[in-house]
Amino acid sequence: MSNLQGKVALITGSASGMGKKTALRLAEQGVKIVINDIVPEKVEQTVAEFKSNGFDVLGKVADICNYESVNEMVKSAVETFGSLDILVNNAGMERAGAIRNLTEKDWDITLNVNLKGAFLCSQAVHGYMVEKGHGRIINIASRAWLGGAGQAPYASAKAGLVGLTRTLALELGRKGVTVNCIAPGLIHTPMWEELPEKNRLAFLTKQPTGKIGEDDDIANAIKFFVDDEASFITGQVFYVCGGRSLYAA
Ligand SMILES: NC(=O)c1ccc[n+]([C@@H]2O[C@H](COP(=O)([O-])OP(=O)(O)OC[C@H]3O[C@@H](n4cnc5c(N)ncnc54)[C@H](O)[C@@H]3O)[C@@H](O)[C@H]2O)c1
Repeated sequence: MSNLQGKVALITGSASGMGKKTALRLAEQGVKIVINDIVPEKVEQTVAEFKSNGFDVLGKVADICNYESVNEMVKSAVETFGSLDILVNNAGMERAGAIRNLTEKDWDITLNVNLKGAFLCSQAVHGYMVEKGHGRIINIASRAWLGGAGQAPYASAKAGLVGLTRTLALELGRKGVTVNCIAPGLIHTPMWEELPEKNRLAFLTKQPTGKIGEDDDIANAIKFFVDDEASFITGQVFYVCGGRSLYAA
């Protein structure tokens, strides 16, 4: 039996993309999942899908940038499932553009969703983990934290997540809580499909593996980090990017 059986995971932004795939991967291990997203219809649909497959899930529509919503979500998750063992700070978005074209709103929303949201969720869950003497926090950054032209708010927010990861690892290490960061590279999404062929080829020439990743690649890495076998790993940035991080920006 998996050592993850019966654990409880909150995965933000898990009604789509890699968050949803991670929810599925953990649910297959017997983890009870809190599906969170800001879009109610997506939460409803994801919860219905998971329940029809026999998985134990709770749907919570909440904006992770809002202190009250986050704390209500975490409280209700603990009331429903009895504990919270795993937090995956996955929800994210990007407003891209050259610095001269970006607005203050672009900066604020990107920093709020990608960084403040992770802070608020980590703050809300850590007490339950400390009380239990066990917990796993995984922050989903991006290879872009190394720097990316046209990505000032996003790269800054993701770099902030690396700082948050390292800091919380220091604060919570002796309490049995590990905190790690996964930095995905290019992952196959609907947006990738919509790119013109020449742009896709330009991206692929910079991939040491010659290909982009899939949601599964991220879900599998997260599964490794939340497992008991990873208990001696904390404060790390782990790239899942086909080697793209080997080049600087
Ligand atoms: N897709 C990639 O190529 C890639 C590469 C590097 C890093 N990432 C990071 O991986 C994570 C997941 O990316 P994805 O491609 O699966 O994204 P996605 O857009 O498919 O899913 C993100 C989900 O987060 C939700 N969300 C947005 N704002 C929210 C908020 N305030 N509160 C709650 N939920 C909110 C969205 O509604 C969406 O369902 C993000 O943090 C992203 O920055 C993605």
